[in-house]
Amino acid sequence: MELQVPSTQLHGNRHNALIATLFLVLGIAGGMGVYAAFHWTAAARARKLKNPVQATNSSIAAGMQIYENRCSRCHGKNGDGQGEKAGELSVAPADFTDAHHISRTTDGELYWEITKGRSPMPAFETRLTDVERWEAVDYIRTFAAKSPTTPGQAPAPGKP
Ligand code: HEC
Repeated sequence: MELQVPSTQLHGNRHNALIATLFLVLGIAGGMGVYAAFHWTAAARARKLKNPVQATNSSIAAGMQIYENRCSRCHGKNGDGQGEKAGELSVAPADFTDAHHISRTTDGELYWEITKGRSPMPAFETRLTDVERWEAVDYIRTFAAKSPTTPGQAPAPGKP
């Protein structure tokens, strides 16, 4: 008789632990789903963002200042992803001279990535103003245009 008490208690505890684990797993999966859905729609919206800062000599010059102060230590002075810190990072910094990749990326996406960051790259949402982030986009675009490996490559006609 007395033995049955601890035994049911044990059973109950195991049962509770199982349910708790189940909820934990469901919670994590649900959270990931919500995060992915949010992230996806936000990124899809970002793709269509219009760049309000037209690429002009002055916006590109401003972007260059920002880039050299904040970005070149990872992305490299020439935008090739070979900055002096690149070797220490867990992920290689993006290579902006890769004209093929960059031509398929919209200004809005570049802006979004600069705004939100992408570990190990920090977010610049609070470090740079909106206009400064768009100027950085204008400047980044100049690397692919100068890239010697893909002379004269332009985005495919008819692409959005
Ligand atoms: C600490 C190093 C570091 C700094 C500083 C940094 N980045 Fe990055 N950046 C990275 C890494 C690493 C990636 C690639 C992340 C990935 O692929 O997940 C990246 C990716 C990007 C991308 C995405 C490119 C693509 O493939 O679509 C953009 C745009 C970008 N960086 C712009 C900038 C700009 C502009 C600055 C300065 C304002 C900057 N980064 C500063 C490390 C850095």
